[in-house]
Amino acid sequence: MSTTNHIGKPTSRVDGPAKVTGAAKYSAEFNVPDLTYGWVISSPIAKGKITKIHADEVLALPGVLKVFSHENVPSLAWFDRSYKDDVAPGGSPFRPLHDAEVKFSQQPVALIVAENFEVARYAASLLRIDYEQEKHETNLETKREDGFEPGSGKTGYMPPPPPRGNPDKAWEEAPHRMEAEYVHGAQHHNPMELFSTTAQFHSDGKITAYDKTQGVYNVQQYLTKIFGLKKDDCRVVNEYMGGGFGSGLRPQYSVFLAVMAALELKRSVRVTLTRQQMFSFGHRPHTLQYLKLATNADGTLAAVQHHALHETSQFEDYTENVVNWSGMLYQCDNVKLGYQLAKLDMYTPLDMRAPGAATGSIGLEIAMDEMAYEAGLDPLEFRLRNYAEMDQNMKKPFSSKKLRDCYHQGAAKFGWEKRTQAPGSMRDKDGKLIGWGIGGGVWDASQMKSAAKASITADGHLTVSSAAGENGTGTYTIMTQIAAETLGLPIEAVTFKLGDTDLPEAPLQGGSWTAASVGTAVKNTCEALGEKLLKLAQKMDDSPLKGAKPEDVEFVNGQIRLRTDTAKAVVLRDVLQASGETKVEADSSAMPNMLKQNGYSMHSHNIVFAEVKVDEELGTVHVTRVVNAVAAGRILNLKTARSQVLGSVVWGIGMALMEETVMDHKFGRYVNHNFAEYHVPVNADIHDIDVLFVEEEDDIVNPLGVKGIGEVGMLGVAAAITNAVYHATGKRVRDLPVMIDKLL
Ligand code: MOS
Repeated sequence: MSTTNHIGKPTSRVDGPAKVTGAAKYSAEFNVPDLTYGWVISSPIAKGKITKIHADEVLALPGVLKVFSHENVPSLAWFDRSYKDDVAPGGSPFRPLHDAEVKFSQQPVALIVAENFEVARYAASLLRIDYEQEKHETNLETKREDGFEPGSGKTGYMPPPPPRGNPDKAWEEAPHRMEAEYVHGAQHHNPMELFSTTAQFHSDGKITAYDKTQGVYNVQQYLTKIFGLKKDDCRVVNEYMGGGFGSGLRPQYSVFLAVMAALELKRSVRVTLTRQQMFSFGHRPHTLQYLKLATNADGTLAAVQHHALHETSQFEDYTENVVNWSGMLYQCDNVKLGYQLAKLDMYTPLDMRAPGAATGSIGLEIAMDEMAYEAGLDPLEFRLRNYAEMDQNMKKPFSSKKLRDCYHQGAAKFGWEKRTQAPGSMRDKDGKLIGWGIGGGVWDASQMKSAAKASITADGHLTVSSAAGENGTGTYTIMTQIAAETLGLPIEAVTFKLGDTDLPEAPLQGGSWTAASVGTAVKNTCEALGEKLLKLAQKMDDSPLKGAKPEDVEFVNGQIRLRTDTAKAVVLRDVLQASGETKVEADSSAMPNMLKQNGYSMHSHNIVFAEVKVDEELGTVHVTRVVNAVAAGRILNLKTARSQVLGSVVWGIGMALMEETVMDHKFGRYVNHNFAEYHVPVNADIHDIDVLFVEEEDDIVNPLGVKGIGEVGMLGVAAAITNAVYHATGKRVRDLPVMIDKLL
C-alpha cells in the first residue's frame, strides 16, 4: 500500500493552519505603506439624477484628500462600451461614477478618500448630495405581462430547448394533473468577508490590487480595459477569500473605486464596503415560476411545463438557466419550457450558488411532490418511474449518471420505507408533527481552459501554481493532492499557489468547474514534469529505468519505478542531486476534450431526504435530519467535498425557512440589508446532516473523472424541506421562505 495515494482521501485543509493562525491575509489586511482610505457614498434614491454634490464642505476637514464623483472622475478608456467581464450578461456593465444618473438604490455616487478610515467615514456622514428623484419601479409583480425572452449573452446561458411532443394536449387529457405558481424573493450572498480592495500604488506607476474576487484574471482584464493599463502594470492578487458564493464572479465597484483613486492620487487606497453596501451589487433574483405537470395512470409523466419570470436591471439582461433542467431531470415526451426577464430599477442580479438550478429545483421539485400526491404515489417511487435514461434536451446519453443509486442508497440511509404517505400521519413521542420530503436536481459538469506550472527543487519540494481561486471550497488542498499523487510525493512536499495574475491563467472560480479545469491542468503539468524527471533519471549511471517510456513508469513514495517491476526504482531526490540542477520546471495546460465529449451530456445529480418537526401551535419548523446523496463523479477529497455539501444543506435550510431580502417598493430599497434582519441559519438551526457520495466512474468528463461538487449539493434542499413541511402539516406553501405565519 503506497503512502502517496492522495486522491479521494479526507486530507485536512492544507491552508487551514494559515487561516486559523491569522497568517492568511484577506484583501483588507494588506497594510501597504502610506495607505489612504476610501468610503463609498451610496444613493438613497432608486432612480433620478444627482444635481449637486456639496464636496467643498467636507474637503475642508483635515485629512480629507478628495471627493470623487461623476463631476471629477477622470475620462477613462472604460467608455468603450464593448467591454464585458467574463460573466457579463447581455447589455452594458454598470459604470461607477460615470454620470449624474442614478439607476438603483444604493448606487455608489461618490468616494471620499482620507488619510485614515475614521476621517473618511466622518466626512461621508457630512457630505450633502442633492438629487432630482424620478419614479422608479422595483416590484416584479407589476411586470407579469411585460416579460421578454433574453438573447444569449453570458457564457453558459442556454435558451430553453424548443417544446417537444404536444404538452398542452397531453396535459389536458391526462388522468392526473397539477398546476401551481412558486415564488421566492431576492436573496443575497452574504459572505462573511466584506468586499474590499487594497490598491497599492507603486512609485513606477504600477498597481497591485489585493481584491476580493473569484477571478484575478477577470479583474485584471477589467482594470486594463478601463484604465488603459498594461497587464504588467496591474497585478491582481487574491489568495484567500472569506466566502464568495458567486458574489465575486464579476469585478465589483469596490475595485474600480480603489484603483481609480490610487491612480489619481498616486497613493495606495483601500476601499471596503459596509455590510449594508454588500446588498447593493447583485443578488439571486426574485422569481415567479409556473408549473403544470400531468401524469398517466401508470405513474409516468405525461407533460411537463415550466415557465419562469425573474427580474433584471435596466442596463443588463441577467440570465440563469432556471427551467432547462425540467426538460431533462425526468423522462417525458411532452415538454414546454419558457423563460422571461423583466426590467426593474435595481442592480443587475448576480450568480449565486447553483444559479438558476437552485431556483428551478424549487419549482420542479415541489411540483413533483404535488403531482405524486395527486397521482397517489410515493414521491420517491414517482421519481423512479420517471427516471431519465438519457438527456432528452440534448438527445444524448449521459457520460455517467448514478442518480438511481442516490435514490436507493439515500432512501436506505434515511429510512424512507418507514414513511406513511398521508400528511399529518407521523408524530414524534412529544407529539410534534413529523414530515419527510425529498427534492433533488441536476448540474452541469463543466471544464474550462486552465494553465499551470510546476517546479521541483533539489531537496525534492514541489511547487505547483495556477491563478485559480479559493473561496473556501478546498482548492489548495485538492490541487496539492493531485500534484502530490501524480509525482508520488507526500502532501508536505508540495506547495500549491493560486490567486495571483503573476501565475499561469486559470478561469474564474465558479460553476463548480475548478476541480475539473485546474485539476486537469495540474495533473498534466505534473506529468510533463515527470517526463523531464524520467529523462534525468535515465542519464544516471546504471539507471534501472533506461529505455523506459513515460507510460512504463510510475511515481510512488518519492521514487520513479517501473510499473512491471517495481524493484527497478530510483529515488527522486537522488535524480535531482545527480542532475546538478537546482530546479526542474514544466508548464502545461488543459482543455476539455471536445472530441471525446461531443456525444454525451455531462451532469452531476443529487437527491435530498429531509425530516422536519413542526410544532402545530407555534408553527415553528426544525429541520432535524437531512441525507443528501450526490453523484458527482470522482470525489477528490472526502472531507472538503463533504463540507461543500454540508454548506449547501445549511444554505438550503436558509432558502426554505429564512432567507429573503425584502424590498420596500416605496423607496425601491432592500430594507433588511444587515445580518440582524436578513436571517441565515445559525448553529441552533442545524441538526443531523448526512452526506453520501455515490460512486460514479466517468472517463469522458476529464482524465480525473471529476464533475465538481460546489453547487450540486444545494439543489432540491429547499424543495425537500418544503415538501416535508407539507407532509407534516398538509399545508402546501408555495412562496418561500416558509415562515411561521404561513403555517398558522
Ligand atoms: Mo458560483 S455562483 O458559479 O460562484
